[in-house]
Amino acid sequence: MLTRTKRGWELPERMATPEHLVLNRRHLLKGLAAGPMLLGGTALIGTYGPDDALAQGDPDPSAGLYPLQRNPKYTLDRPITEERLATTYNNFYEFGSHKQIAKAAQKLPIRPWTVTLDGMVEKEQTIDIDTLLKRMPLEERLYRMRCVEAWSMAVPWGGFPMKALVDLAQPKAGAKYIAMTTFQNRDVAPGQKQFWYPWPYVEGLTIEEATNELAFIATGLYGKPIPRQNGAPLRLAVPWKYGFKSIKSIVRFTFTDQRPKSFWEVVQGSEYGFWANVNPEVAHPRWSQASEKPLGSDKRAPTLLYNGYAEFVAHLYKDMKGERLFL
Ligand code: MTE
Repeated sequence: MLTRTKRGWELPERMATPEHLVLNRRHLLKGLAAGPMLLGGTALIGTYGPDDALAQGDPDPSAGLYPLQRNPKYTLDRPITEERLATTYNNFYEFGSHKQIAKAAQKLPIRPWTVTLDGMVEKEQTIDIDTLLKRMPLEERLYRMRCVEAWSMAVPWGGFPMKALVDLAQPKAGAKYIAMTTFQNRDVAPGQKQFWYPWPYVEGLTIEEATNELAFIATGLYGKPIPRQNGAPLRLAVPWKYGFKSIKSIVRFTFTDQRPKSFWEVVQGSEYGFWANVNPEVAHPRWSQASEKPLGSDKRAPTLLYNGYAEFVAHLYKDMKGERLFL
């Protein structure tokens, strides 16, 4: 029989799931038919068992690039999350709608891997990941991440500023947004067989957001190439927004003048919007966002406006009226 020990960061079910949110089976099926509950209260409850020990995928050929020099500008107000937690408690719906997807994600082939820059750019291009890594200014940054479900972590990402990628793409003057798309491969990602989700996963930023100094393309984590479960070989890290904006395993960046409709917006637009900026005072329709549960800690911490990054990004939104900036 499989036994499991509760980790410090797991919440007792009664704390994580207010009674009125506990879904009965009928409700659950109805919910799944309409789209899931990323992120229902139940999503906070982690399970971790012995079979989560990671089977290794093929080694990553970029390993020699790491560790990278840390950029001292980005500091943390809390300890770095334990690596084992950040790499075994994940959201990656392509591999399952629960947190223990790390093992399943090892099936993702990360070479060959190409990234296409297309749409409103001077010249469309498809570039192989190792060539891209050679051309980008790589560095390490300590960033917080706040999931909309109210758990959070603080990790050392390796990678490069997204602005460097935008410069490489050379967008045309009329481009206003960047739509990013995750790989699509139902043979390795069983979640993509779930027809009620609008695969592939898509996310979007405005060009101003993407060229803000904080927007980062992560290719490494904890001084090594980023593991598959965290979005190898490249994922977005936009720490002032809820975690679902930080799309994983990207294959395409499309420059456009139309605002992209992101995965969760299609699934449940009333709960997950385009902007998704962190704000403790704006509750999710089903739970408060006032505080969060750092992975590995048994105490909740207050959530900060723009996840503590207001000085970098608040100006981006100051003249926007009538937009749901915090959902
Ligand atoms: N990207 C893809 N392609 N698929 C996903 O399911 N989940 C998002 C985001 N990026 C997701 C994704 C959500 S909800 C969160 S909170 C973060 O990834 C989690 O990142 P982590 O597992 O590295 O902590």
